[in-house]
Amino acid sequence: MSDPVIVTSALPYANGPIHFGHIVGAYLPADVYVRFRRMCGDDVHFLCGTDEHGVAITLKAEKEGVAYPDYVDHWHERIHRTLQRFGIEFDAFSGTASHRNEHHAPLAQQFFTDLLRNGWLVEREEEQFFSESTQRFLPDRYVEGTCYLCGYDKARGDECPRCGKFLESKRLLEPRSTIDGSRPVLKSSKHWYLDLGRARDEWLRAWFLGKHGQWKPNVENFVLGDLAELRERPITRDLPWGVPVPLPGTAGKVLYVWFDAPIGYLSISKQYFAKRGEPERFEKLWRSPNTRLFHFIGKDNITFHAVIFPAMLKGTGRGWILPENVPANEFFNFEGRKFNTSSGWFVPESSVADDPTDVLRWALCSMMPETADSEWTWSEFQARVNGDLADNLGNFVTRTLRFVEKFFEGAIPPRSGETLAQDKALDDAAVRTVAEVREHFGSFRFRRALAAILALGGECNRYFDAEQPWVLVKQTPTRRRAGDVMHACCRMIDLLAVLIAPVMPATARLIRRAMHRESVPLAFASIAPRHEFPNEGIRGAPLTTVFPKFRDERGEEKTALFRKVTDERVASERARLAELASAAVAPAPATTVSPTKSPAEALAATVDYEGFTAVDLRAATIVAAERHPKADRLLVLRVDLGFQTRTIVAGIAASYSPEELVGRRVIAVANLAPRTLRGVESQGMLLAGDDAGGKPRLLAPDAATPDGVRVR
Ligand code: MF3
Ligand code: ZN
Repeated sequence: MSDPVIVTSALPYANGPIHFGHIVGAYLPADVYVRFRRMCGDDVHFLCGTDEHGVAITLKAEKEGVAYPDYVDHWHERIHRTLQRFGIEFDAFSGTASHRNEHHAPLAQQFFTDLLRNGWLVEREEEQFFSESTQRFLPDRYVEGTCYLCGYDKARGDECPRCGKFLESKRLLEPRSTIDGSRPVLKSSKHWYLDLGRARDEWLRAWFLGKHGQWKPNVENFVLGDLAELRERPITRDLPWGVPVPLPGTAGKVLYVWFDAPIGYLSISKQYFAKRGEPERFEKLWRSPNTRLFHFIGKDNITFHAVIFPAMLKGTGRGWILPENVPANEFFNFEGRKFNTSSGWFVPESSVADDPTDVLRWALCSMMPETADSEWTWSEFQARVNGDLADNLGNFVTRTLRFVEKFFEGAIPPRSGETLAQDKALDDAAVRTVAEVREHFGSFRFRRALAAILALGGECNRYFDAEQPWVLVKQTPTRRRAGDVMHACCRMIDLLAVLIAPVMPATARLIRRAMHRESVPLAFASIAPRHEFPNEGIRGAPLTTVFPKFRDERGEEKTALFRKVTDERVASERARLAELASAAVAPAPATTVSPTKSPAEALAATVDYEGFTAVDLRAATIVAAERHPKADRLLVLRVDLGFQTRTIVAGIAASYSPEELVGRRVIAVANLAPRTLRGVESQGMLLAGDDAGGKPRLLAPDAATPDGVRVR
């Protein structure tokens, strides 16, 4: 038996709905990975639950006048339903609140006492804002006042949106609570801090550096940045809801939500194994060096999973395992903006109510922000469904099975034994694709896995076209060859079913059923060896009874594996968004300004329209990238401008590795006079803007704008 595997998805906060951004960031990739590993024969435990403590939940429950447990129960159920809607199937979906999981608080307290005993916690007494009206300490972000640096009167306790500086909340002028406007007072309180700097110096940095090259480049770079500036972090709070600090004289103090939440991964496993009647497996699994642990998360959770939680696990001295990998995704946007549930900028469930789960999973996987931010657009969705699913995979499956149904009475014809060069070529492509797809799924490159599957689907369709079975089947001497062609196509369908199964499990099962092979497990081991398809002559099911039925535009009933997305539907979704966008008022600064944002750059001098059009901008794609031989900051790129491929030298090495740039869409300045940069001639420039940390990020055209199109 192979080594046991634990896969976790970030525990969603039980205080609001989850949207496509969450699904694509931490849940769908984990579910795909789990299905993939199981298809390879691994023993996988897939765990999740809701994150149910913290100040935000406390305040929201109070605002609604609901008891904390009832409040989190409501969101626990809702979130679980959404996850099920996307076909995410955990072994356990529990949570961190005591009424849901009796193992959680004791385990979190054990972590605290272990860390304290082992000298990783520092105790400190500090002054903090306290609201007398609510008898509650106020976290910095719930205090507003006048900035002591620039005088802006709506500065927050942790930062000033006007001057962009971090603030020391205690020094705010005219402080007031954002909850009820009352004036807070300073009061001292005792808290415990986790000594992360020492963990880094003693072992954490070395542990992390030892993983170099195994983690995704976006995650690795993020963690390197974190390690450089680690501080002590407070791990306790003064709050009425949470896991109590397990020390005498600490009434009213709880563990900080970010301390207790990741321990949820362990407490949820503990509960799960106890329920299964094998309680001893919990510790065995979490303390065995052979167990392989993977945390699937979004970008905003990297520090906690790659730095703080490992420091906690190791600091206990109990030999808890550390993650083998933390395959975090980047941000996922929606039609050019951040998802924002409260302003309606998200995909409502009603918009996708008729889309099969598998179709949504495929589309989301193909847009996944694996190493860079990406977005959901309705036209991209249409392209993926119509192009990838309906025209490529679906078309091949239905045309083949229909043919077998019509000309071979639904029985997959046995092979004659003769193999032509094109049969062998198709088989070789299939064998190569299976290896590639395994490699990509195994290394969290889901988009590449899908691309490889589609490439094989394309080969299959071309094979069908080139062989012209509809001609062969008409004459007795060539009918046998038509049978061989169909046999080969059926073998490909059976193999494609395995390849798509991690992403589209229901469709894979449907295909197996159509071929009367539902008893054959969907596993990589079940892929037939070259040329041979097992169970020769098996009789398939009539497609009309197996495949989904749709009414087309003319109201006629159709049977197909996938239904297309119409232009009308895309247009109406876009219209809904356009309305939202025009109705939206400028959001309050507090919700749009990130703590690291600096003041806006001064506006440049006005230019006239001619001045603007003098710059020739083109949509383009990077086709190759390498490091500049002489400058660390620079990358040498080959950029396809549609009509011409050019070399462009760009100062973006701090933000991108050459590998992640290949295939990326960019906007190029096409009429810039060539310039030689450290010995390499650059024939243009790419548009980029800085991120909040001042690092360059490339700008990209919409997927529907082909290379060479001029930007105006
Ligand atoms: N609740 C957090 C969020 O939604 C994630 C917590 S992950 C855990 O961002 F590991 F801490 F549980
Ligand atoms: Zn200021």
